[in-house]
Amino acid sequence: MQIKGRVALITGSASGMGRGTAEIMAQHGVKTVINDVNQGMVDEVVKGIKEAGGEVMGVVADITKKAEVEAMFKQVVNTYGRIDILVNNAGIFRDKAFLKMTEEDWDKVLEVDLKGVFLCSQEAVKYMREQGYGRIVNISSRAWLGGPGQANYSAAKAGVVALTRTLALELGKRGITVNCIPPGLIETPMWHSLPEEGKERLLKAQPMGRIGSPRDIARTVMFFASDEAGYINGQTLYVCGGKSLFANIG
Ligand SMILES: NC(=O)c1ccc[n+]([C@@H]2O[C@H](COP(=O)([O-])OP(=O)(O)OC[C@H]3O[C@@H](n4cnc5c(N)ncnc54)[C@H](O)[C@@H]3O)[C@@H](O)[C@H]2O)c1
Repeated sequence: MQIKGRVALITGSASGMGRGTAEIMAQHGVKTVINDVNQGMVDEVVKGIKEAGGEVMGVVADITKKAEVEAMFKQVVNTYGRIDILVNNAGIFRDKAFLKMTEEDWDKVLEVDLKGVFLCSQEAVKYMREQGYGRIVNISSRAWLGGPGQANYSAAKAGVVALTRTLALELGKRGITVNCIPPGLIETPMWHSLPEEGKERLLKAQPMGRIGSPRDIARTVMFFASDEAGYINGQTLYVCGGKSLFANIG
């Protein structure tokens, strides 16, 4: 895959599939930027990638804060001279039955999972437009198709699909592609934070009888971010073991 030497920023990459994506990109010679909200976790991932011989920097920034996002991209471009790839990966969930969901539950999830994608994409595009080159890969969720107890999360992740399609249309002529991956269940700290009975129920509903690994997502992100995917734009590719075929089962 042609990707060596590119500069990639992956939001929320101190954990889970963002971390997996950063590690695999660094292994392939990508200059990798680890972003997250926790300094200690960012430092740990940066250290690991450096020890493995990768080129990497860490930036602590909250993707819901415009000023922090602006400063983050400035720091990246000052260090590496450009920004080729943005992976909008950071996300949270606060699942609750609809009538129990508070306004704060709604706002928090929409802020991180949708507004954060807007802010980071807008900032990245300012630089990508000048370069005439860019790859944006958005991590949605299979839950955008609908998931009981996930009104906030499903709505935010559906917004990510819609934003992907719209940006693809707006930015294609500038050499920037925008694509989307809705993962199914992936073994990350997010998955491990679910209650045991919930996990059991979800596992039973998996067409392949198992959940995926962060590497399954990382390899797909890498493909969308590579030169080979240059004519793929505005697409949504499920990496979910076939679960999207049962769209109405949570
Ligand atoms: N794990 C799954 O089964 C699954 C399934 C479908 C979609 N997803 C999506 O994949 C993405 C990654 O999930 P994961 O399972 O690796 O989760 P994770 O919790 O392991 O990692 C998410 C990271 O995002 C960071 N983050 C949260 N808010 C942030 C903010 N405001 N600014 C910067 N970073 C912030 C967290 O600190 C965390 O390190 C998320 O968007 C999630 O919604 C996960």
